[in-house]
Formats: sequence, structure tokens, C-alpha cells
Amino acid sequence: MLKYFHKETELLGTVPNVLAECSFTKKLEGRVKISGSKNASLAMLAATLLTDEECIIKNVPRLDDVFVLLALLEKLGKKISFRGNIVIIRGAVKRQILPEGLSRKLRASVLVMGPILASKGSGVFALPGGCALGERPIDIHIMGLRAFGARYEICGGKMNFKRKILHPAHIHLPFPSVGATENILMAASLIPGKSVISNVAREPEIINLVRFLNAMGSHIKICGSTYEVYGVRNLHGAQFSVMPDRIESGTFLLAAAAIGGAIKIIGAESGHLTVLIKKLAQTGVQIGEKRGILSVKAARCPQPADISTAPYPGFPTDLQPLWAVYMLRAAGKSKITEKVFPARFMYVDELKRLGADMKLKASVLTVGKSCLNGAHLIACDLRAAAAMIIAGLMANGTTRVGGLRHLFRGYENFFEKLQMLKANVSIRQTKKK
Ligand code: EPZ
Repeated sequence: MLKYFHKETELLGTVPNVLAECSFTKKLEGRVKISGSKNASLAMLAATLLTDEECIIKNVPRLDDVFVLLALLEKLGKKISFRGNIVIIRGAVKRQILPEGLSRKLRASVLVMGPILASKGSGVFALPGGCALGERPIDIHIMGLRAFGARYEICGGKMNFKRKILHPAHIHLPFPSVGATENILMAASLIPGKSVISNVAREPEIINLVRFLNAMGSHIKICGSTYEVYGVRNLHGAQFSVMPDRIESGTFLLAAAAIGGAIKIIGAESGHLTVLIKKLAQTGVQIGEKRGILSVKAARCPQPADISTAPYPGFPTDLQPLWAVYMLRAAGKSKITEKVFPARFMYVDELKRLGADMKLKASVLTVGKSCLNGAHLIACDLRAAAAMIIAGLMANGTTRVGGLRHLFRGYENFFEKLQMLKANVSIRQTKKK
């Protein structure tokens, strides 16, 4: 079985320069098991800052983003062990200054702000960097923390929050931001009294976080798109298992639809993928479920279908690049509208190197049936990397994909899983420049 080298030094995944080589694959067949959710794991790991007691989190995927966040938590004073897919975290936070280098590596590092300010009252945080999805503001996070009474000054590019005892608040989010909802929820859990947060994000990863916070002794009530949080003075440790990765499940559903064949997906939560499954059925894909196993059979001649991304339960923005690649096989034109990250089309120019018929106007991409031929592509973000590899397996000849560090951030054993499904893919180390 292919094993790419993934040195884990000090919990930091350092991935050497590797290149994916993809050759035309007539169809996928076999079974694939879904890992724990990256995005749910990151929020839960940040939530462990709300208690000094031991937390045991199971089904945590071994990914670079997880390694970076664990390294951050360790720098803050947490004692961590990560064996297999089980993380054990305990101990008090001893430092409240977030190292800039690590914070810049991981957008989700912003999630430590709420827990640190609620438990310690002060902290110094670097402004998170942007990425290929475009500008990544945190104004909604800040608006929520300020509502609790937090105040900061910017010095040296960092936000320096002065010591404050935070108070409960009623907060209405201008946009259902996933990260801001998580940050504000975690802070409210440790602010004694009743806080009400409305127009929240309702992604399954957030419900997973609510369940974990309640297991730690918080009292969060979900009322539609409003959360009522009865914050407490202390939260205790808890044991919890991470939900299956919704986006990885969608990635393999779309890989089968785009490349062809029939596969079985083990451990996916189909209830989290209703919109995608409905759209796939519209194009002719057959999807069945039996005892928690999803069976997917690709359409011989897929029909085009338009999508427009939206916060959950809408079509997930993270699957937008993968849908675009699938539509390269559809018999006709389809329109893809991106409403969450309007700049999330950096992958289009790369796919055009394969001969993709794609035209982008404002945030609407029109895709036509395309005959793809191998080329050398460079991935620009996590989901675009997966999309380029799938496109390479659809293309004639060989396609090489670089920039794989993005992929290792968010997909556990991606190449091994594709190989188990009979995909012609391998990775090799490139000469260091
Ligand atoms: C989370 O990012 C996910 N990351 C993203 O997954 C996912 O694409 C995104 O939610 C949307 O579902 C993690 O959970 C670690 P947002 P997040 O705040 O929290 C704007 C992946 O591939 N916004 O819901 O950063 C923002 O610019 C990653 O796994 C503000 O304007 O997403 C964007 O346009 C990529 N101000 C929109 O809201 C803010 O303060 C959605 O962002 C915050 C966000």
C-alpha cells in the first residue's frame, strides 16, 4: 500500500515536496471508510481550553491542520498525547500569547480566542492570514467578543485584549459565520448567565461542538437559528467522538460520479449530505443506503445541474470545486454560483490546462462537457487540490499535481483511499529546489 512520508515532529506535520501522478482511470470500484471530521475536530480541540481537566477526543483525523492546532495548544501550556486517532488533552493554560507563525499557518487558530478570553480574560492574538479563498475577515468574531465586553488594541499586527471580566450578551450575527458561531458559543459557555446568539451557522460540525460543550457541563439550547447558552463558572473534562467528515464523504461521492463506476462509502452520515445527494440524483447518479453504508453508482451519461452554494443546509461551498469537475462530464452546460467565498475559483485556470471548458463571470462559473488531456497543475487550496486530482483521473494520459501540502491539511490517507478504489494515482517526492 502506498505510504507517503509524513514526519510528525513535535506534533507538527512536515510534509516533504511531493507530486501526485494521476493517470486515466476508467472507473472506481470498492469501499472507502470516512475519517473523522477535520472541521469538527478543530473546534472541539479549541474547546478543551475551557477546562483544565482531561478531555479525550476520539476519531480525530491525522491531518496537518490538526497537528498545527495541537502544537498551538501545547505552546499555550496544554499537555497533549495523540495516539492513533485519539487525542488526550489536559492541564491549565499557562500562556495567553499565540505564536504568530503557527497562527498564520492555520485560519482555525482564530477559534482559540473565545475560549482564552472567557477563561483568562486577556490574550494576544495574531490577525489570521488570508488564503486562496480570498480575504478571510474576522469582524463577526470580534463583534461577538466585544458584545461580551472584550476590548483590544492593535499593536505590532496583533490584537492585544486587555484583562476584562466578560458578561452575558444577546448577539445577532450579520452572517451565519461558522467560525464566529463556534468562537462565540465557546466563550458564552464559560460566561455565567444567559446569552442568546441569533442568525447562527447550523453546520453539523457546530451541532457536534454543542454536544461536546454540553458534555463538558455547558447548557446550550438550539432553537432554530438561535442558540440559548446558560454559561457556567467552570466546565469539566469530557470524552467524545468526532462526527464523520461531511466534506470528505461528499468528495468521494463526487469522485465516483465524475470518474465513473460504483463504490461503497462506509461511515458517512447521509443526513448531512441531503442537498448534494438530491443534486447527484438529478444528474442520474444512483445512491442507496443500507445499514449506514452508502452505495453510489455513476451515471453513464450524467445530465448537467446548476448549483448555488449557501450556508448549511444549502450546497456546501467546500464541495463547489468538486462539483465543477464533475460537470466536465455532463452532457450540456451547467452554472455554478459561489455565494459564500466569492473568490473560490482560483482552480479554474489550472483546470483549463487540461482543456476544461469553463467560463467565469463575476461569481458564476459556466461549465461545459470537456475532453481532458493530462497536464501539470498546481493546487491552491485544500478542496481545489482534491478536485484537480479527480480531474487528473478523468483526463487522458498523465496529470501531475503539485502544491499537495494543501491536501495533507484536510484529507487523511487520501491517496491510499483512492488506490483502494482502484484509481491510477501515486505520489513521488520531487527533488528539493
Ligand atoms: C469554515 O470556515 C470552514 N473551516 C471552511 O472550511 C468552510 O468553507 C466555511 O466554514 C464555510 O462553511 C473550518 O471550519 C476550519 P465562515 P470559516 O466564517 O469559519 C465571511 C475547508 O475547506 N466572514 O463561515 O472561516 C467570510 O469571509 C474550509 O475545510 C466575515 O465576513 O467560514 C466568508 O465569506 C475552507 N467575517 C463567509 O463569511 C467574519 O468574521 C463564510 O465564512 C467571518 C466570516
